[in-house]
Amino acid sequence: MTSPARKILVTSALPYANGSIHLGHLVEYIQTDIWVRFQKLRGHECTYVCADDAHGTAIMLKAEQNGLTSEQQIANVKAEHEKDFADFNIVFDNFHSTHSNENRELSELIYGRLQENGHIASRTITQAFDPEKNLFLADRYIKGTCPKCKAVDQYGDNCEVCAATYSPTDLINPKSVISGATPIEKDSEHFFFKLPEFTEFLQTWTRSGTLQDEVANKLAEWLDSGLKEWDISRDAPYFGFEIPGAPNKFFYVWLDAPIGYMASHKNLCDNNGTDWMEYWKADSTTELYHFIGKDIINFHALFWPAMLSSAQFRTPTKVCVHGFLTVNGTKMSKSRGTFINARAYLDQLDPDYLRYYYAAKLSSSVDDLDLNLDDFIQRVNSDLVGKVVNIASRTAKFVQKSGGELSTEIADPALWQKFVDGGDVIAAHYENRDFGKAMREIMALADAANEYIAAQEPWKMAKVEGSEQEVLKVCSLGINMFRALLTYLKPVLPTLAEKAEVFLGETLSWGENLSFRSGSINKFKPLLTRIEKEKVDAIVEASKEALAAAAPAEGVTDTAKEQSPLQEEPIADEISFDDFAKVDLRVALIAKAEHVEGANKLLRLTLDLGGETRNVLSGIKSAYQPEDLEGKLTVMVANLAPRKMKFGVSEGMVLAAGPGKKDIYLLEPHSGAKPGQRVM
Ligand code: MSP
Ligand code: ZN
Repeated sequence: MTSPARKILVTSALPYANGSIHLGHLVEYIQTDIWVRFQKLRGHECTYVCADDAHGTAIMLKAEQNGLTSEQQIANVKAEHEKDFADFNIVFDNFHSTHSNENRELSELIYGRLQENGHIASRTITQAFDPEKNLFLADRYIKGTCPKCKAVDQYGDNCEVCAATYSPTDLINPKSVISGATPIEKDSEHFFFKLPEFTEFLQTWTRSGTLQDEVANKLAEWLDSGLKEWDISRDAPYFGFEIPGAPNKFFYVWLDAPIGYMASHKNLCDNNGTDWMEYWKADSTTELYHFIGKDIINFHALFWPAMLSSAQFRTPTKVCVHGFLTVNGTKMSKSRGTFINARAYLDQLDPDYLRYYYAAKLSSSVDDLDLNLDDFIQRVNSDLVGKVVNIASRTAKFVQKSGGELSTEIADPALWQKFVDGGDVIAAHYENRDFGKAMREIMALADAANEYIAAQEPWKMAKVEGSEQEVLKVCSLGINMFRALLTYLKPVLPTLAEKAEVFLGETLSWGENLSFRSGSINKFKPLLTRIEKEKVDAIVEASKEALAAAAPAEGVTDTAKEQSPLQEEPIADEISFDDFAKVDLRVALIAKAEHVEGANKLLRLTLDLGGETRNVLSGIKSAYQPEDLEGKLTVMVANLAPRKMKFGVSEGMVLAAGPGKKDIYLLEPHSGAKPGQRVM
């Protein structure tokens, strides 16, 4: 290692205390853990802190639903989260909670400084209020009929049928999602963080190497179109911290959540007797890295640095943004069993498999990444079992036979040099979070090692009398190449590395260039087994079952996740067969398909039902060009009552599936089907 030891504080986003950790979250925690392990392995002083995000309406309601106090709810979830993380080999230096003394003190301190600096405004706003629950209702807690197209069951801020946006007071027949009561309007005083005053500061900060270019570009759009003041208070009842000097007003969960990073670190420093301020003072020379998903960029790259700078603390060195996980090419889905909780995975498989697969897929970009379950099995088996572990299992026994001592001579110095030189390239990829590139470099070396062993054929050499020294030399190089690979893989595969360390009889370190190892090794035991497809199938099956218990009441969170790609549609209540039989499904020929002037999502379809035609407005424009649809067969609900929509009357509905946007797939009957035929 050439550079002096750095002091780096690293965080992952704080998971909400109202749900389980799933494979989507794990993209982030595994990514961060790998990066932290890499830094530690390179000899840097790297500290990784996290916490549960414990506040907000969603958690309060979840506790109520579970018949618990909010404190009990968050304690249960914290224990579960900590166990899940530990079992995935994600090792925090501290895992705290935002509902902690440290966080209360720091939130009050920071808020106080924002106030002193004139960065807090207050004014009265009018909001929907649930008169039964005595609770102000955020837009997503209200549903009603769209004022424009009259579609029922639409959220308080926008209509999913006609794409209209409006305020909840415009809804026809609005209802509180929580109690079913009709909301009333009520005034209350709110506090706002004056974000627009930080526009210039943020224009510079977001362009100072703190963000990926694509993120900075996105933020530039927001900055150019003008920032708004940020509402940071909520009225009681609310699970959170009461605002000093403002009885019954609470900090909005997103105000104290990032402060939770500082609080968790403070808790650690206070317990260890180390200097917390060294990391947080405005002129700190330490580094601060936040790893987050792309859905929470505004909180981390606008509000947070602005708050920190107003409160005279340091700002982050880097905010590292990753994309979202898809499984088998689409959004994780409870009905398909691809919404997989950490525990469902752990019940079947070793965490290192997933850690490796994510590493192979991760880059420094914000692109989404896909977990394709077949590819997962294939990749892990071929790379880890077929390539890496194979090197040791093919050579160890010959070293054992000649006494268990590695040779001091390097059989092929040029080949070994490749392994030594590879270290710098691989380290640079780790540093830049290009883990996929690092894995490719490592696997290229593994290929070279296997080619060498295959060409030397020590198992054949061993049969020739007097060849013992030659065999030992070849196999000692084999073991050294294996050792180099495991050193480079150690941040990703802690369990495998540990087993390799037992075999090699040493702790693998990567402070500087690797040297060739001689001396004794231990008996080789199988290090890793192949992933069996049955295990993966069992995970998917178990994840399907979990749904029945968890379905209702999901779908509301307290934060920016409203538009999250994760938001699953709640499964509707059970209906009887007779209800189902009332639905008249027919094969329909798409005779004509056209754009609808002014509509963003809709196409107008003229459907031929074998003599009878229907006009249907369908929200599939994002996925289909009209000309590609004409002449195709699809399936429609033929007896749906006509609905008057903004762009005309729709006489029925075509059936499609998919997560949305480009991925909407119209159902297609087999090509021999006749228009008008009943579909069973
Ligand atoms: N509580 C907030 C974060 C507060 S940080 C001061 C939150 N919690 S979360 O549980 O919803 O998400 C935690 C992290 O997991 C976020 O960075 C989020 O982007 C990430 N992910 C959640 N689902 C994900 C995927 N499906 N794919 C990848 N990352 C995802 O947001
Ligand atoms: Zn509408």
